[in-house]
Amino acid sequence: MIVLGIETSCDETGVALYNTAPWEEGKPAFLGILGQGLHSQIDMHRDYGGVVPELASRDHIRRILPLLDQSMDQSGLKMSDIDAVAFTQGPGLAGALLVGSAFAKALAQSLDLPSIGVHHLEGHLLSPLLGDSAPQFPFIALLVSGGHTQLMKVSGIGQYELLGETLDDAAGEAFDKTAKLLGLDYPGGAAISKLAEKGRPGIFDLPKPMLHSGDLDFSFSGLKTAVLNQAKKYAEKNHVVIDPVNAETVQFHADLARSFVDAIVAVLVSKSEKALKQTGCKHLVLAGGVGANLQLRSSLNAMTLKNGFAVHYPPFELCTDNGVMIAFAGALRLLAKNNGSTTSGAFDIKPRWDLASNNLM
Ligand code: KG4
Ligand code: ZN
Repeated sequence: MIVLGIETSCDETGVALYNTAPWEEGKPAFLGILGQGLHSQIDMHRDYGGVVPELASRDHIRRILPLLDQSMDQSGLKMSDIDAVAFTQGPGLAGALLVGSAFAKALAQSLDLPSIGVHHLEGHLLSPLLGDSAPQFPFIALLVSGGHTQLMKVSGIGQYELLGETLDDAAGEAFDKTAKLLGLDYPGGAAISKLAEKGRPGIFDLPKPMLHSGDLDFSFSGLKTAVLNQAKKYAEKNHVVIDPVNAETVQFHADLARSFVDAIVAVLVSKSEKALKQTGCKHLVLAGGVGANLQLRSSLNAMTLKNGFAVHYPPFELCTDNGVMIAFAGALRLLAKNNGSTTSGAFDIKPRWDLASNNLM
């Protein structure tokens, strides 16, 4: 079965074609990726310091057809080879979701194919199955993106249990907001991590929110305030302007970024360890845009090694939003007999959507 996947939930337009044959034959799942096209709107939103929903929707409209053409050309397939169309139904920006949904449904209808609405986070959390070393069920998924921070127990395709989540800012949001405070461009996650590599550990005493809360929830909104306070204190004491291009504050910047990244990573790793021990699961999966963070990966490697657990990552380029993960998740749902969310008729998007509510029976 060949599934076309469409992702338009936020600021990336992703299109991909996935063939389920390798998955069904027990071969590495990534062999099923036949073609893909991706356009990131980051350059467009950067001037505004964040995603502008209306601009995002308009850009998805502009990009989606050329990306489909690109994916089809890459795959060498004809439109008549496609068996189903999967699209991100939610959660995400309503206008952006409507573009993908309308496009997918119109295409499916014209080709007389089924269409299936995919939960964006399901796309992320199944994407490590496309990596070199696929996890075995059941596993714990640490989902860390711009909009979500969740620990889930994944017992199988469509069997998700929420164990804990952020009470305020998502991890990616904390990275982006803190990067902005330090004068770095949007989205600052990758930039602040790079800066942190040059920083010395333990220079600033930042909070590690909810580290000892006893549950699996997170809270990151206080961390950016602590960073802001440290920056203000330093600027006043040393009579300098905090700016990433100011030679006088370069080391300060890097040290503060390092303390910030260390604090957030310590909490994410500690709660993941707790989730593994609490559930008895041996496999951990890291998914979502923050999953590209190298400091987080190396700390998770150390924690899992120490405990005899295994950690699995999506291919690096599939950490952030893309069409492949939507085609793949849609394909796995369609292969499961009761896929639960094959859509018909109206453009029923779900800007807010609880993943566990979409479980298979
Ligand atoms: O999953 P994603 O592409 O989009 C959402 O569904 O939100 O995640 C985007 C988030 C942004 O907040 C971005 O700053 C963060 O992932 N991110 C990173 C890194 N690369 C992307 N955060 C920390 N370190 C990185 N290397
Ligand atoms: Zn995402």
